[in-house]
Amino acid sequence: MEFSLAYAQAQETAHTKGCLREAFIFPQHQGQDALYFLGNSLGLPCVAAQTALQRVSDQWAAHGVEGFFDAQPPWWDLETQAAEQLSPWVGAAPKSIAVLNALTVNLQFLLLHFYRPTPQRYKIIMEEKAFPSDQYLVQSQLEFHGKNPKTDCIEVPRSGHHWDTTSFLEAIEQHGEDTAILFLSGVNYYNGQKFDLETITAAAQKKGILVGLDLAHAVGNIPLELERWNVDFAAWCSYKYLNGGPGSLGGIYINEKHLSTSSPSFKGWWGVKREARFAMSPEFEGTSEASSWHQSTPSILALAPLCAALETRNQITPKDYFKRQHALTSFLAYVLTQVAQKTASQFEIITPTDRGAQLTVLLHGQGKTVYDRLLAQGVYVDWREPNAIRMAPTALYNTFGEIYEFANRLEKALA
Ligand SMILES: Cc1ncc(COP(=O)(O)O)c(C=O)c1O
Repeated sequence: MEFSLAYAQAQETAHTKGCLREAFIFPQHQGQDALYFLGNSLGLPCVAAQTALQRVSDQWAAHGVEGFFDAQPPWWDLETQAAEQLSPWVGAAPKSIAVLNALTVNLQFLLLHFYRPTPQRYKIIMEEKAFPSDQYLVQSQLEFHGKNPKTDCIEVPRSGHHWDTTSFLEAIEQHGEDTAILFLSGVNYYNGQKFDLETITAAAQKKGILVGLDLAHAVGNIPLELERWNVDFAAWCSYKYLNGGPGSLGGIYINEKHLSTSSPSFKGWWGVKREARFAMSPEFEGTSEASSWHQSTPSILALAPLCAALETRNQITPKDYFKRQHALTSFLAYVLTQVAQKTASQFEIITPTDRGAQLTVLLHGQGKTVYDRLLAQGVYVDWREPNAIRMAPTALYNTFGEIYEFANRLEKALA
């Protein structure tokens, strides 16, 4: 690797297939596109998503409620489209996927269904320092069932700044007989580490443990093969790497083996099969598809731009996208070490090489001033007290040239 604009340009040419920059809209800084490296927080809008939002608004005015059937495409069809569009990015058949509600809500429903503690099996294993929502939801699920979060939630510790796969395997070995659920993120929100989901899932299931995932930081960020890994259930949000828009709908995956053997424990009218939805029957007529997990009418104002963003994304293949993603973040890691050397700064990249787009950097001794100076130069990264900066360039719309430019602005911020 080389810290030069020529190298950045050569990389851009080599990885051009994974990028759709022209399709996206950027925040502006002094009349130019800002350097936006926040795929891990809120992905940028694409032109097609803005068009879809306006289209739905016009259709609402033109058709009223008939928009569900008469709009083009009918609003009624959007949830099926979204599941189809997500399929290659989560590695599962559309029937195992549904787009609904929001992430934490979906995880609560999934755990209400799948976490059935018995006197023999009642513990939940998770990574320590998971995203707070995950900690709260595991605590609340345990308490809801009269369990004690202090003893019945097994938190797998890190070694230094990251987790070793063996630590998960040891926890599974030690608590395998009395654990009901292993609940893990696909990529940890703080250090950006990608977990070995295939190995951990297989080890847990060997002990009779169900495996559930929070994929907020994984979907659209790392290759996922939920079906092949035999994951039991998962949920994600669509506002980070999927560019669905702020507070956009969540998504769920339910393994086919559970779809064919049980219907959702909590039912709502939108989960009834489409042909029967307006029969208003007192009997719940579901299907053996994840769409039966719908409770409520989906927000079309959220679904339409999400479908447009997914359609945009599907103009490239996951293979090209992840190849470019890997090259972009590797280049970012490299330029960070070069800048640290040049400026004699104390950066520490705590993200291991098992990762997606995100790098988390500890700025020893410099802290928030550097972040503030970056923001003042039109660089969007994310600050976590007391000294962490998280950044995630995104293959869809960030370039190698931007990373080179970021290095220049970082040097200035450190001066
Ligand atoms: C890992 C993780 N889990 C859960 C959430 C909460 O998502 P929501 O507010 O959409 O429920 C987030 C939000 O960023 C997250 O990063």
